[in-house]
Amino acid sequence: MSQGALPGFRDFYPEQLATRNYLMSVWRDVARRYGFVEYDGPPLEPLELYTKKSGDEIVGQLYAFTDKGGREVALRPEMTPTLARMVAAKANAMRKPIRWFSVPQLFRYERQQKGRLREHFQLNVDILGEASVAADAELLAVAIDVMRAVGLTSRDVRARVSDRKLLTAVLSQAGVKKAELPAVFAAIDKTGREPRDVTLGKVEKAVASVEARAGVSRILDSSRDLNALAGEFRNSPDVMETVTHMREYMNFLDALGVGEWIEFDLSIVRGLAYYTGKVFELFDAKGEFRAICGGGRYDDLLSTIGGVDLPALGFGMGDVVLTELLRSRDLLPTPELGTEYWVAADDESMLSDVMTVAGRLRAKSRSVEYALKAQTLARQLKTASSAGVKNVVLLRRDDYANGKVTVKTLADGSERSVALDAFLNSL
Ligand code: HAM
Repeated sequence: MSQGALPGFRDFYPEQLATRNYLMSVWRDVARRYGFVEYDGPPLEPLELYTKKSGDEIVGQLYAFTDKGGREVALRPEMTPTLARMVAAKANAMRKPIRWFSVPQLFRYERQQKGRLREHFQLNVDILGEASVAADAELLAVAIDVMRAVGLTSRDVRARVSDRKLLTAVLSQAGVKKAELPAVFAAIDKTGREPRDVTLGKVEKAVASVEARAGVSRILDSSRDLNALAGEFRNSPDVMETVTHMREYMNFLDALGVGEWIEFDLSIVRGLAYYTGKVFELFDAKGEFRAICGGGRYDDLLSTIGGVDLPALGFGMGDVVLTELLRSRDLLPTPELGTEYWVAADDESMLSDVMTVAGRLRAKSRSVEYALKAQTLARQLKTASSAGVKNVVLLRRDDYANGKVTVKTLADGSERSVALDAFLNSL
C-alpha cells in the first residue's frame, strides 16, 4: 500500500526544496543586513512552556504527548517561548539589545484551510532588552525588507500596525471593563475575517454596558483613522500618550524608508496572549491570502517564563503564505537544479578515465555527473541533455591519450578541443 504524508505535512521534492531554500536564503540575508545572528532550540519542549503564556488558541492546536519518561511534552508550535527561555537563562551575561533570528519548523494541529498547514517554517526575528519605539520601527523594517528582497512592492503588501495599549486605552474610555477586555480583543482580532454583525454579536455577549458596546462599535468605525481616534479621545492622557508613540513610530518607519507600506489599523490585535504593546501583521493588498507575517511587543514574557525583566519584541513570517503569494505573482525563481558538467567518452572501455576526469573537476568544486555504467556515446549525450547539463567534457580515445579533451556546450552545440590540464587550471 502506498501512503502519502500526513494531512497538513509536506514532502519536499527537489523543486519544492529549492523554493524553500531560496526563501530561507533571502530570510537569512535580510536578517544579517540588520545585524541579527541566528540561533535554534529544541523542536520538542515541555508542554508547560506553552500552557503558561501562549494563549488558548495555540494550546488547543498542540501536538502534545507523554514521553517514555513520563514527561508532558509538545512539538514547538511557535518559537517565542523557547527564545524567552533561552535568553532568560543567560540574560545577565549578554550584550543588549539582543538581536537574534531563527528559522524553525513549527507544528500546529490546524483545521485544514488555505494557507494553514500542520507544519511550517517560520522566520523569527526578535529584539530583546530595548524598550524604545525605535526598536519597534527597526523590527518592522526587517519584515518589509524581506518583502522587497523577494520582489514585492508596497502595492502588493500592506503592513497594518496597531498598539494593544492604545486599544486598551480607548476601550476603557468607552466603558469596557478590564475583565471584559480579553473577549473584546478576541472579537476584534477576527474582524478582518468575519462580517461586522458577527463581531458586534460577540461584543454584545462580552460587554455588559449598552453604552460601552456602542463605544466599541464607534471605535471599530474609526479603527483605521488615528486622527479621528485622537480627536475623539483627546481628553484622555492614556490615549494621547499612546497616540504620540504611534506617531513617533510612523515617523521612524518613514525615516527607515518603509513608510509607504504602513497602515494604521486598530483592529490588528494578534491571536497570541503575550503581546503588550505595538503589534503588526503583513497582508497581501488584495486580501486573497492569510497573514504573511505577524509580531509585536511582548514585554512581560521573559519575566513570566524566566523571571527576568527584559522588554522584547519580534515577529514570525511563515513560508506557506509567502510561497503562495510569490507563486501567484510569478515571482518564484526557477530553481537551478542542473549539473554543470557531464563527462562522457567515445569508447565504452574508458569508464575509469571518465571517473578520473570527473574527480579532477569535482576537486575544482564543479558539479559533475557521468553515466554510472558503460554506454554508447549517443546514449551518454542524450542522458546529459535530458538531465539539463550545460557542458559535456568528451574524452575521445586518441585525443585523451595525448592529454586532450573536447568541451561541448549543449545549448548551441559548439565544441572546442583543449588540453585537459590547461582547461582544469582555467576553472
Ligand atoms: P503567528 O501569528 O502565530 O505568530 O505566526 C506568524 C506567521 O506564521 C503567520 O503570519 C503565518 O504566516 C505563519 N503561520 C502560522 N501558523 C501557520 C500554519 N499553521 N501554517 C502556515 N503558516 C502559519 C507567532 O508564531 C509568534 N510567535 C511570532 C512572534 C515572534 N512574535 C514575537 N516573536
